[in-house]
Amino acid sequence: MSFGELRLVSCKVNKMEIRKAKIEDFDEILGLVHQLSPLKEGEGEVDLGVFKKIIHDENHEIYVVDSDKGLIGTGMLLVQLNLSHGGRPSGHIENVVVDEKQRGKGVGKKIVDFLLDRAKERNCYKVILNCKEKNISFYEECGMKNSEETEMRLDVS
Ligand SMILES: CC(C)(COP(=O)(O)OP(=O)(O)OC[C@H]1O[C@@H](n2cnc3c(N)ncnc32)[C@H](O)[C@@H]1OP(=O)(O)O)[C@@H](O)C(=O)NCCC(=O)NCCS
Repeated sequence: MSFGELRLVSCKVNKMEIRKAKIEDFDEILGLVHQLSPLKEGEGEVDLGVFKKIIHDENHEIYVVDSDKGLIGTGMLLVQLNLSHGGRPSGHIENVVVDEKQRGKGVGKKIVDFLLDRAKERNCYKVILNCKEKNISFYEECGMKNSEETEMRLDVS
């Protein structure tokens, strides 16, 4: 598959396709991302410039699920370049969200399957993500497993 090619997919939502995000998608993608991570008090909205930077970066791939109801889902793959594993990158999945009115119809699984395929196509040796406990079974349904590794974290104010 060429980079960014459209894929027609089928699930319980009619007429949907997964495609690469475009500049014009910015507002709709933000609406979806806020369902995952609402703006905190005093937190500013992300700038369009940041979005442009991401979508023009060859190691960030944002995809959207486009349907007759507008954008109903999104997800991002970060291809992190690497010095170990023979220089094969690792894939990081971020910002997987399905519009709350469209959940439970197989859209989320389609997004993750797609991102996992893209990671394989980008020669990643592994794909990782962080998620809440309640979403573990969802990612297991997508073929991922709960890793024994612990995440170390520092929240920077
Ligand atoms: C998590 C999320 C992306 C799942 O999307 P979805 O379209 O509702 O999921 P799907 O319909 O594709 O579900 C796929 C499978 O996982 C299961 N599943 C879905 N959400 C689940 C959950 N939260 N817990 C357990 N299982 C879940 C479904 O039952 C389904 O199994 P089945 O194929 O045997 O029926 C969606 O609920 C969402 O956007 N949540 C808010 C944002 C979020 O938390 N994103 C994850 C960031 S890490």
